[in-house]
Amino acid sequence: MKSIGFEQYGESTVLHERDIARPIPKEQQLVIETLFAAVNVYDVEVRRGDFAASPLEKWYVPGNEVVGKIVEKGRAVEAFSVGDIVIAKTARGGYAEYVAANQSHVFLKPAHMSNEQAASFSHTAVTAYWALHGFAKAQRGETVAILGASGSVGSFAIQLAKANGLHVIAVASAKNEAYVRDLGADDFVDYRKIDATFDLTADIVLDASLLGKGGAAGVRYAKDGARFIGLTGLPEQTRPLQWIDGQRTKDMTDKEAMTALEHIPLRLRTPVILPFTAAGAREAHDMLMAGTHDGKVLLRVRES
Ligand SMILES: NC(=O)c1ccc[n+]([C@@H]2O[C@H](COP(=O)([O-])OP(=O)(O)OC[C@H]3O[C@@H](n4cnc5c(N)ncnc54)[C@H](OP(=O)(O)O)[C@@H]3O)[C@@H](O)[C@H]2O)c1
Repeated sequence: MKSIGFEQYGESTVLHERDIARPIPKEQQLVIETLFAAVNVYDVEVRRGDFAASPLEKWYVPGNEVVGKIVEKGRAVEAFSVGDIVIAKTARGGYAEYVAANQSHVFLKPAHMSNEQAASFSHTAVTAYWALHGFAKAQRGETVAILGASGSVGSFAIQLAKANGLHVIAVASAKNEAYVRDLGADDFVDYRKIDATFDLTADIVLDASLLGKGGAAGVRYAKDGARFIGLTGLPEQTRPLQWIDGQRTKDMTDKEAMTALEHIPLRLRTPVILPFTAAGAREAHDMLMAGTHDGKVLLRVRES
């Protein structure tokens, strides 16, 4: 089967195509024929070698979020049927025609979502859910400043915060003001301008900005003692805040978040869809870093 991956860290040009063996399901696994593979900032970080302690030893296929059709299942899998269209959260391997996923990380596609929408949803919505409910323990009536509010994580965080009765200060670029207000943001700040209006007003600052670029500037919105949750590390801890590194723990499961999210009518932007080629994957990675995309970036692996 065709896969897209890399065997050395570096620029997006390290991404290329390779035929590899189709996975065989283990007892608890399903094999899914991929329709769309989501491209996430995490994939870019892995490709650049941001988490690498040593050189790569073999072909690495990124991709932790796909939508596809179940074609095979392991002996212990009862909850799904061959032919079901599902969302799968995988550790890696999503940029491929087939991917194996443990059944605890597989979810039936919500009936009201298109395949494209379903592929745009799980990784970042689950992250937003755990950031607000797991790390921040957000309470009705509190104020949250969301840095990167127009992004994939941030746009879900706005909607979840509003659904839970929080006041939202959205921090993003000016071109996205109307978008984030439409999602429910109460106040807006353009991160390219210095604006003291909302200094020291937030009980929670959620840094969902690209690679944490907005984190240092966003510290100003926090009240003393506020919770500051960084999704890509934390800025210099210059003030007496509760500094929380928002890397999910094992007990913050996909399943619990996905079950809770089912009941919230989340709105999604139309995704950017690129072809399942090395050129398409490179463009997707570069687009995420340049910030030229509006909405999620997907690879169309197979026509649905
Ligand atoms: N810890 C976890 O489990 C986890 C999970 C998922 C994601 N993340 C991280 O969360 C971050 C956001 O991911 P995403 O998928 O939501 O990305 P995304 O869709 O590309 O959104 C990026 C956001 O950052 C804003 N931004 C870009 N440059 C900025 C700058 N210089 N200063 C302030 N804000 C800036 C963008 O605003 P405009 O477009 O309006 O300019 C946009 O709102 C990434 O770094 C990702 O790695 C962490």
